[in-house]
Amino acid sequence: MKISITYYSETGNTENLARSLETALLNAGAEVYIAPVNETDANEFLQGDILVFASPACGTEEVNDSDMLPFIENLGDKLQQRDIFLCGTFGWGDGEYLQAWSEKMQELGCREVHQPYACLESPDADAEEELAELAEDLLKS
Ligand SMILES: Cc1cc2nc3c(=O)[nH]c(=O)nc-3n(C[C@H](O)[C@H](O)[C@H](O)COP(=O)(O)O)c2cc1C
Repeated sequence: MKISITYYSETGNTENLARSLETALLNAGAEVYIAPVNETDANEFLQGDILVFASPACGTEEVNDSDMLPFIENLGDKLQQRDIFLCGTFGWGDGEYLQAWSEKMQELGCREVHQPYACLESPDADAEEELAELAEDLLKS
């Protein structure tokens, strides 16, 4: 299975999450395409069986709107019926921005193969374990 990951990261936490997920997926036997959202090749990204989007909580419980939301807008109809997974990092909330993001992506016609995942700042050892389990779940989906 091929999994594509695009991420936005201002201070590195979400990049660490995306890279940890990449490692977990590779260990679980997946093929992975990963790139920061402003360097993501849309055509290559869309070749994934599962499309992973990662953004920190920005503004007031919002997804990054300088790069991630425009990237999603540009994908437009190509997201219909696609299997996706949303994840990210947060600083003081509980990742509630992911709920609104999830609803927005469903409105675009995406199918979430797993409930969104968020961790506090950079993934710690517990988060790494959760990501290993999550990677197995994604490959079974
Ligand atoms: C301008 C700004 C707004 C933020 N807004 C939120 C927020 O609404 N809720 C939250 O839990 N964390 C918020 N944070 C914290 C970041 O989501 C958190 O530090 C995240 O891990 C940063 O990820 P990054 O290192 O990938 O950029 C905010 C941080 C900044 C700088």
